[in-house]
Amino acid sequence: MAGGTRLMERIEGRTAFVTGAASGIGLAITEALVAAGARVAMTDWHVEELAAQSARLGTATLAQRLDVTDRTGWADAKQRVENEFGPVDILVNNAGIGPTIGTLADMSPESFDRMIAIKLTGTFNGVHTFAADMGERGDGHIVNTASMAGLIASPKLGAYTASKFGVVGLSEVLWAEMARRGVGVSVLCPGMVRTNLAANLTGDHPGQSDAPRDNPMADGIDPAIVGRQVIDAIRNNELYVITHAQYRPLVAERVDRLLAAFDTTS
Ligand SMILES: NC(=O)c1ccc[n+]([C@@H]2O[C@H](COP(=O)([O-])OP(=O)(O)OC[C@H]3O[C@@H](n4cnc5c(N)ncnc54)[C@H](O)[C@@H]3O)[C@@H](O)[C@H]2O)c1
Repeated sequence: MAGGTRLMERIEGRTAFVTGAASGIGLAITEALVAAGARVAMTDWHVEELAAQSARLGTATLAQRLDVTDRTGWADAKQRVENEFGPVDILVNNAGIGPTIGTLADMSPESFDRMIAIKLTGTFNGVHTFAADMGERGDGHIVNTASMAGLIASPKLGAYTASKFGVVGLSEVLWAEMARRGVGVSVLCPGMVRTNLAANLTGDHPGQSDAPRDNPMADGIDPAIVGRQVIDAIRNNELYVITHAQYRPLVAERVDRLLAAFDTTS
């Protein structure tokens, strides 16, 4: 037992639903789930790559177009996966876009809203679609992909950071709420992973010069490592999934600053 929840030791024969499954971390989690014997509904708004990856992985997967901001699309995708694979045991809310680089003071409301809609509200949409059913069955696991940017605040990544702190907070609440209903929750907080995330990195304004020209994710770790860590986290019902030990001092610094503020209160 961990967090009061039954452990999902066997992934074999389970049905999983992964968003942002066409590429990067979502694809690696899908591959790890398939290797562990699960059937996976792979969803993404990028349909061609999704269909190609699903065809490569075979009949343990199905490919379904889903924009995580589209609630009707969520309902349709749920119906299809349940018809073909049965009830969803494992939900992975992973879809995301690269950060818009720029200070909050200069950020357009449209950029901010878009980031929150995809990463934070998109994660809630997944929870809204599947969590109650899992709770009723007293079984299931939900993985939400946040980021190290959900634990450490970084200048010029304001919308991304706000969305990821939101995903961490949402996951902590969900973990506390779902434990007594037999459902586990993990929040994945990676550092740099070698994916396509930054391929579309932009500044918030035309002509902004500080958007990196090369893919900064190129030096990141292999997404397959993250996929395997997520499988372990599901099996052991680990709330926090940390991929990069080197960020520990920065997280500790933030927690120390927070605790120091309590020392100044009477
Ligand atoms: N790569 C990293 O270093 C890193 C670090 C921390 C967190 N993350 C997070 O990991 C998650 C996956 O990113 P990745 O690095 O694998 O990038 P990626 O670009 O390789 O994959 C993201 C996938 O999400 C899909 N997607 C984007 N918006 C969508 C939407 N509205 N609906 C459905 N699908 C959508 C994309 O089409 C893409 O296939 C993201 O949430 C990202 O913020 C990545």
